[in-house]
Amino acid sequence: MSIIEVKGMSKHFGGLAALSNLDLTIREGEIRGIIGPNGAGKTTLFNVISGVYRPTSGKIFYLKNKRIDGLASSKIAKIGIVRTFQRTAIYHNFTVLKNVIVARHLHAKESILSIFAGTGKKREEANIKKAMEITEFMGLGHLQNELAENLPHGHQRVLGVAIALACEPKVLLLDEPLAGMTPTEKAQMIEMIKKVHQQGITILMVEHDMKSVMELCDYISVLDFGKLLVEGTPAEIQNNEDVITAYLGTEDITSLGGEKVAA
Ligand SMILES: Nc1ncnc2c1ncn2[C@@H]1O[C@H](COP(=O)(O)OP(=O)(O)OP(=O)(O)O)[C@@H](O)[C@H]1O
Ligand SMILES: [Mg+2]
Repeated sequence: MSIIEVKGMSKHFGGLAALSNLDLTIREGEIRGIIGPNGAGKTTLFNVISGVYRPTSGKIFYLKNKRIDGLASSKIAKIGIVRTFQRTAIYHNFTVLKNVIVARHLHAKESILSIFAGTGKKREEANIKKAMEITEFMGLGHLQNELAENLPHGHQRVLGVAIALACEPKVLLLDEPLAGMTPTEKAQMIEMIKKVHQQGITILMVEHDMKSVMELCDYISVLDFGKLLVEGTPAEIQNNEDVITAYLGTEDITSLGGEKVAA
């Protein structure tokens, strides 16, 4: 069953077509990889699905028949589609736990007044409890009271995912979750993504680390110049000539994780 369906979607910035007439179907429960060269439109796709940008044209359906294109991002997050950012958005001078609690407040749009007045006290206790569960689930339990700015890069990225989970998504959009990480940090993040997926959350992931994409994803969509170049399983993608040419601008397939073939 499809969970997100993008139909004929375009997004123009002035004269530039960042996305043009894109069709994409995301199946419920999968880990979908979105790959493609720099500037292919991957982040723009996330921005349009998550309501950061309104598409120039086209439709997006969620859970079969609910149209979500053009809805505000807060509304889209509320119904279950939540994204992380290519550069992590965290409050550096808040603790790890507070970052997740604040994300829950923003998500719930609770009045701060109701919290101070005590009317929201029960809800606030539940919020804190849930935020603690999430930080623990993401392996940050022992760092709950650490300032976010003191965390190493890898943990800051994990916190970015914890903040997204605070909104209790059905679909999680990860924009380059492994960027800038050491091999150890990458391995930890990959385990976290698998764990999140095991909770029944559908995952869309933009990532340049081909080895990890091939390991994690059930299915891959390749974007090039704002268009869908090809889709397939990791095995199909890493042996596809068009992908090799478009993505690498070279015949060397090894960077895609495939076998090197003689010319
Ligand atoms: N807000 C914007 N205003 C103008 N142009 C934009 C804007 N956002 C993206 N673009 C342009 O749209 C195109 C697609 O950009 P996008 O960020 O979606 O690429 P990407 O596939 O995520 O690339 P990368 O792998 O480098 O992150 C690029 O040419 C980019 O310069
Ligand atoms: Mg991008």
